[in-house]
Amino acid sequence: MSCGAGLGRSFIARIALALVLLTVTLCFFSYRDLISRPSRLLPHAPFHDSHKQQETVATTTTTAAHDAHHRNRTLGPRNATLGFDSILALSKGGGQSWRVQGLQAAAALSGLDITVPPQPTWLPEMVDAFAALSPEGVPKPEPGSAAAWLAHIDLLKYVLQSELNSALIVEDDVDWDVNIKDQMSLIAEAVRKRTHSPHDESNPYTSQWDILWIGHCGDSPKANETVSLFADPTVVERARYVGFEGTKGYLREHVPEGQRAVWQSSGAVCSYAYAVHRDGVRKVLDFVSTGLGQAYDTKLFYGCRSGRLNCVAVAPEVMVHFRPDPQFGQTSEVNRLNDGDAAGALTSDDGSIGGQEGGGRPDKVAASQAEKITGTTNNIRQSARCMSLWKKTCVGGHK
Ligand SMILES: *[C@@H]1O[C@H](CO)[C@@H](O)[C@H](O)[C@H]1NC(C)=O
Ligand SMILES: *[C@@H]1O[C@H](CO)[C@@H](O)[C@H](O)[C@H]1NC(C)=O
Ligand SMILES: *[C@@H]1O[C@H](CO)[C@@H](O)[C@H](O)[C@H]1NC(C)=O
Repeated sequence: MSCGAGLGRSFIARIALALVLLTVTLCFFSYRDLISRPSRLLPHAPFHDSHKQQETVATTTTTAAHDAHHRNRTLGPRNATLGFDSILALSKGGGQSWRVQGLQAAAALSGLDITVPPQPTWLPEMVDAFAALSPEGVPKPEPGSAAAWLAHIDLLKYVLQSELNSALIVEDDVDWDVNIKDQMSLIAEAVRKRTHSPHDESNPYTSQWDILWIGHCGDSPKANETVSLFADPTVVERARYVGFEGTKGYLREHVPEGQRAVWQSSGAVCSYAYAVHRDGVRKVLDFVSTGLGQAYDTKLFYGCRSGRLNCVAVAPEVMVHFRPDPQFGQTSEVNRLNDGDAAGALTSDDGSIGGQEGGGRPDKVAASQAEKITGTTNNIRQSARCMSLWKKTCVGGHK
């Protein structure tokens, strides 16, 4: 009988565990039902070198297809979505905040088309449940960071649901240089040269990565991985570069003035701007949906560092958050503390960090104030926000 009773208890325990797992799965893995949809087939052009028999296909067709691919790959990064299928901004404030107003002004100046998908309202229970995925002893996100994390998950689901081949995800206070299209063409070329991507790949940035991290506040390359350097006349002068000591040191020693680098990321922080594509987004969702960390960006950091995610980063970065003057700093202390926590030892030398919630970034300034909020953007020589709103450059850092 004792044996039977033991079995009974363990059976009940198993059922209970299964129910808990099921609930968590239903809450946070609802994107999985999308996964079972048949994925669209990639267009396959018949000119890959190894396909000997297919080379007999009419040369005119292959040449035309080759030209089309070549055009897509070289011109893609210069189009209104920078060569991705879509640019999606993560915003709580809809179109009403100064952040989105400035974002759209910068986009108009740069010829970009940025979509701001509506964000669901996160119930406190939902946010708490997400934070509670961390068992005792594992870091939990503060409510602000947990909500921002859920918002990133929601955008990743949006990429899957919309069947986008690729998307650039940006936070709504992000900024970039007025030469962003030139910069992205160079980045695409550098990424393509690194990888042995198939000739018929239509994504100008290839799909040989899970995260292409173009806007962060610090990163360094994985040990023993190739670092690709390329000249970019628009890169910030090294003396003005603001970032983590490790990144600054690496740039100083290995990346000459006037050049940028593309490398295998050992773990970046700050999710200002990163790209995903259809074949990698499920993997990213699988990884980040489990919670278990202090903030979304630090979760990605560990994904990249551990090799669970294949991350390629650009340094110096080309997208950075705009920092309003402190005189507009109606920042909530809670958010600032959240950011500090998320940062841990990784705080940058300008004190900025981990900002889904944005230390030093006022949230509640009315949209009508957007044009009055001056500020700076580190590491960007000619800020698109500042040029569009005030015809000035706003570069931060020290000269
Ligand atoms: C080129 O890009 C367009 C969308 O911009 C797409 O419809 C087309 O299939 C692409 N062509 C090739 C050959 O990749
Ligand atoms: C930009 O180029 C990419 C890659 O060719 C393509 O998928 C996307 O649809 C293009 N966007 C626009 C707005 O034409
Ligand atoms: C990098 O290469 C060196 C020398 O070949 C080796 O000793 C070291 O273990 C490698 N590091 C990693 C992280 O693979």
